[in-house]
Amino acid sequence: MGIAELSNTEPALRRSWHPVARSADVGAAPHRVLLLGEAWVLLRTGGELRAFLDRCPHRGAPLSLGTCEGDVLACAYHGWRFGPDGRCVGIPALGPDAAIPSRARLEAPHGLAERHGMVFLSPEPSLVPLPEIAEAGDARFTAGDVPAVRARASVGLLADNFLDMAHFPFVHRATFGADEAAEVPAYRLDRDGWAFTVSYEHSFSNREDPAVAEGTRPLLQHRRLTYRYDAPFHLVLRIEFLEAGGSNVIGFFLQPETADSCRLYTTLWRDDLDGDTGRMAEAVAFEKAVLDEDLAIQTAFDRLVLPLERTTELHTRADRSTLELRRVLAELVEAAEAG
Ligand code: FES
Ligand SMILES: [Fe+2]
Repeated sequence: MGIAELSNTEPALRRSWHPVARSADVGAAPHRVLLLGEAWVLLRTGGELRAFLDRCPHRGAPLSLGTCEGDVLACAYHGWRFGPDGRCVGIPALGPDAAIPSRARLEAPHGLAERHGMVFLSPEPSLVPLPEIAEAGDARFTAGDVPAVRARASVGLLADNFLDMAHFPFVHRATFGADEAAEVPAYRLDRDGWAFTVSYEHSFSNREDPAVAEGTRPLLQHRRLTYRYDAPFHLVLRIEFLEAGGSNVIGFFLQPETADSCRLYTTLWRDDLDGDTGRMAEAVAFEKAVLDEDLAIQTAFDRLVLPLERTTELHTRADRSTLELRRVLAELVEAAEAG
């Protein structure tokens, strides 16, 4: 059993949580999103977030073209009206008193939830838990959202890229990579169910630290990096500054839309900016520049799949974390196939 490579529309991925929008993007108007090759419509009615397959049971028109009137979503094509539970409550062509066929109802996903400013959807019962990010609920931290990006890319290769440490001096030469050593330091890897963490400490030049300019701290400082991967595509990097104090958290959440398209959400949480919106805007712009460097490579792959078969690629000891990614995803596919 199992599969040799993971595509963006692998059916086994229906059994896990995926980000589909930022919470702020979903209001009373129907909002269409794509996930695993399928369209869903998101909306808020009566203060509650709802999601349905974006396909009217009558003639298949996208419901996201429709309008919301109070609790009711009306299809744009023939005006069928659907209540908050997805049941059809009115068919204009039949007049006001007609019986409504019981099959006239919208299909809801198995799971729908909001976490750290994002909407997550699981089409079928999820095999994996929906992760939390402690800093997102911590008043000392401010969040900064990099605008969501749609790219021709493989969701698996994007996750691989986020965990990869050997590309910094090459891909990120123009941003942070010039100061980085090419040799990947020895790191710790701890598997934890459908998740794992990778951590190491290293020295770096802290050019952002105001105390360096004042001469009260040396330029060469240390930081601890901890990557946390949660299956299938929920990634977090925590950077703790050991001399200067404070920490940066980068969340990277991937939405596999179609066979050749993904949406990428990056959010920063920082406790070292004293609520300075200018510095947060700078940090967000810098992160966007870093992401663009990664996307230059990620959008150029000929085949948009992540190999899961061990022998397809060459692995070195510097690639332990991205090999673990392949292992977790292969196990997830097998678990989904086993039911
Ligand atoms: S297709 Fe929606 S009402 Fe006909
Ligand atoms: Fe990168």
